[in-house]
Amino acid sequence: MSKKRKNWTLPQGAEPTAFDLRIMEFQDKGCLVPTRSLIKTPEQIEGIRRAGEINTAILDMIEEKIHEGMTTGEIDRLVAEFTERHGAVCAPLNYEGFPKHCCTSINEVVCHGIPSDEEELWDGDIINVDVTTIKDGYYADASRMFCIGKMKPRIQRLVDCAKECLEIGIQAAQPWHFVGEIGKAIEKHARKDGFSVVRDLAGHGTGNHFHEDPEVDHYDTGERGMLLVPGMVFTIEPMINMGTYEVFIDEEDGWTVVTEDEKPSAQWEHTFVMTDNGLEILTH
Ligand code: MF3
Ligand code: CO
Ligand code: CO
Repeated sequence: MSKKRKNWTLPQGAEPTAFDLRIMEFQDKGCLVPTRSLIKTPEQIEGIRRAGEINTAILDMIEEKIHEGMTTGEIDRLVAEFTERHGAVCAPLNYEGFPKHCCTSINEVVCHGIPSDEEELWDGDIINVDVTTIKDGYYADASRMFCIGKMKPRIQRLVDCAKECLEIGIQAAQPWHFVGEIGKAIEKHARKDGFSVVRDLAGHGTGNHFHEDPEVDHYDTGERGMLLVPGMVFTIEPMINMGTYEVFIDEEDGWTVVTEDEKPSAQWEHTFVMTDNGLEILTH
């Protein structure tokens, strides 16, 4: 079914530019195209880049300090202090009621794990630390996996495969192509190892707000999704599961996303800007 939404409109009285015409050609064919607000200006991209630089420095700092025996509560405090010292704000805190400064997701926790002083890192654990920084009103969102102590080979493979899935998603995202190509490529790669791709959570536009359009699915939805236009800023953040792709949300805290079969899950995330030559990473 074709999307009938007319997202791209011309400012009143304006003559269409070549850029407008290129987007409207897709729109007239029934393709889902971005709204004008999703195309960032060079100034906005610079702002998001600065947020990204701080976000990267935070993850580098965590990478240096993370160790067996540490609690996820300590990780949260390190993120909070570092962010404040750099004149920035932690986007997760109070976001839709989220109680901490970052997400820490261990083993079978897929994402949105809540840091806690009661939760220690043990030998053989894998943990995703997901950090989102607001600097001068601009957002950057990224996460990495950390492996604690000695890894079982199959778990190490899951972590590596999830990282490859992000890299493959980056290659699949081309200007004037479609979002759907990202998930198609990622799912194909994950399946080679017998892993599955989480469907209930997606990557997302970001930059001016925490979560914007488009939705960036990491599995093959069978749909094209939104047209990818230079100037769009979004994340890719595949969550790859050892077993089933099905997940549930912990009823007690309302946040923690866990694999249905309680087998491990791994995720890596970057924020990108689409350019004329493909994606540029803003959270390197
Ligand atoms: N950083 C997550 C993402 O990649 C979102 C976390 S929402 C929070 O989209 F409230 F849990 F922080
Ligand atoms: Co994100
Ligand atoms: Co994130």
